Order: sequence, then C-alpha cells, then structure tokens
Amino acid sequence: VADYRAQLPSHLTPSRRPRRLRTTEAMRSLVRETTLRPADLVLPMFVREGIDAPVPITSMPGVVQHTEDSLLEAARKAADRGVGGLILFGVPATKDAVGSAASDPDSFVNRAIKRLRAEIGDDLVIMADLCLDEFTDHGHCGVLDSRGTVDNDATLVRYREIAIAQARAGVHMIGPSGMMDGQIAAIRDALDAEGFEDVSIFAYSAKYASAFYGPFREAVDSSLEGDRRTYQQDPANGREARQEVELDLDEGADLVMVKPGMPYLDVLRDVAESSPVPVGTYQISGEYAMIEAAAANGWIDRDRAIMESLLGFKRAGASMILTYWSSEVAGWIQDGL
Ligand code: PBG
Repeated sequence: VADYRAQLPSHLTPSRRPRRLRTTEAMRSLVRETTLRPADLVLPMFVREGIDAPVPITSMPGVVQHTEDSLLEAARKAADRGVGGLILFGVPATKDAVGSAASDPDSFVNRAIKRLRAEIGDDLVIMADLCLDEFTDHGHCGVLDSRGTVDNDATLVRYREIAIAQARAGVHMIGPSGMMDGQIAAIRDALDAEGFEDVSIFAYSAKYASAFYGPFREAVDSSLEGDRRTYQQDPANGREARQEVELDLDEGADLVMVKPGMPYLDVLRDVAESSPVPVGTYQISGEYAMIEAAAANGWIDRDRAIMESLLGFKRAGASMILTYWSSEVAGWIQDGL
C-alpha cells in the first residue's frame, strides 16, 4: 500500500476529504440529514369478511387478511410502537356491481372501523381507503355504464355515500384512491354536509397505473380483468402529477400522496418541493414483495434494504410513508436498532 501511496502524483493528493465525516458511526450519526420516526409511518391493513383466522397473502410474506379480532390486536401493537396511522382496506365475502358493502354502515369493514376507533381511540390516526375496487364484482374503482366503461360522475355519488359511512364509523381521515375527476370536492362536500368537517382527506393525488400493484390484487381477492389506464396516470408522465395535485388542493385535500413510491421518486421530490400541505408516499405491494423475495433468496440484506428504501422516501421529501413494514420498523426504531 505504501508503494501505491508513493506513486500518487503530489498534485493529486486531495485537499478536500468528505470521508472525514464518515469515520465512525457517531460521526455519521452527527451529520445525518434524514431520520425516520415511527410517527412517519402508516400501516395499510386488510380486514376480510367471513374468516375465523387470519389468511396469509402468499405474494406478500408476512402480511395477512385480518379477522376483526386479529386486526384490533395488530393495530394495538402498532399504536404501542408509535406508528403514526393505519389505513384500512376491506375484503368482502360477496361483491356486486356497485360495491354495496363499502357504504353499508353495518358491513364488516365499517364495523371494524367502529371498533378500531372505540378501542384504539386517538392513539394513532385511523384512516380508511375510499375506493370501490375491493367491493365490486368487476374489480374497477368505479361503477360501470352500459358499455362497461367506468362512469366518473356516477362513481362520485358512490364515493360520497362511502365517505359518510366511513366518517360515521369513526375514521379520522379518508384516503380516496380511485382517481376519479372531482372526487375530492365531491367527498369534502358530502362530509361537510353531514357535519364531518373535522374528518380530513389524504388524497392519492398522483397515482400511476402500475404493474407493481400485482400482489395487492391477491390481497383484496380482486376480480379485475384488464387495467386501470383510463383513470390512473400514465407512468411516462411527470408534469401531469402537478396538475392532479393542484386540482386536489383546490378541491380541499388536506394531504397529498404520490403512489407508487420507488419508481416515482422524481415525482415525489417535485410534489414535495411545491406542495403547501404534507406529502406522503405509498410503498406499494409490489415494492414490498420485491424486497421480501430477494431477501428470501439471500440476495439482499432484508432489514438494511427496508431501511434504505424508507430513508429514500424521506430524503425525496415525503413527510409520511405508507408501508406494510410500518409496525416492524417502528419496533426496530423503538428498540434503538
Ligand atoms: C385501490 C388501491 C390499490 C392500492 C391501494 N388502493 C390498487 C390499485 O389501484 O390497483 C394498491 C396498494 C398496493 O399495491 O400496495 N383501492
């Protein structure tokens, strides 16, 4: 090594040495720009009707469809670890053309919300995904017209009904994910008219038609054939995200989201830099599955890959991250790992 040193021309001896700040963990910790808190994390959870034990989701190892009881238990645990919020998805036993269970105040999913609010209270933010795709027999995020196309404006009426049912059940926050035009205004108006002006809206504003939703289809037993390209954004478009965010803000969104996460970090950065409201991102099912699958093969270090992926979102400007690892990662942070 000394020989090599001797061969370096003296004019190439660096005068600026960034490596000085990387010498020890204490030094690295001192200069660390980005941190992750349990409160930054939101846990997406699935509750399924008509099961008496949790059902594993094969393509998302470690994630299950919950019974009402196991949901409550897992939510309690997340709250105890300081997780910021949870977002609930329902998987009904029977689906129909208009997704009736979503707006039925007595359906399993709205009952589950009621229990969450009663038993977890305000310890974490209780959110519900507001969409139709889990509840419709055709699997689309809206109702269909006679030609089989998603009818935007008819869907808005269904969204208003669902919002009211979710608010009555006790959610703090609603996450509309259907990408219908005008959905935030329609939902805000419905909530306000029923006296729910304190229920906030976390708009899935820039949501792309992504292949990475694959495992989610299993998670909600989706019956979708075809795709969502007539309502979700084209992955090639970045500028379009600004318009979607602007519209949602005009319509009354309290927070906005960019989804998926990793393939859209540029969009996240762009939105985070200009948004006057908090910006979140959703590390979706396929992102989760990729890391789990590679780790299961021994190809990457699972825990480090998870933390690196989450830090990437925060570095890009996300205030909060929806991730299926929320509870586990909050536990690591709590334990000082
Ligand atoms: C729609 C919805 C989807 C996800 C969240 N909300 C599916 C889709 O748009 O196709 C995907 C979440 C994930 O993949 O983890 N209700």
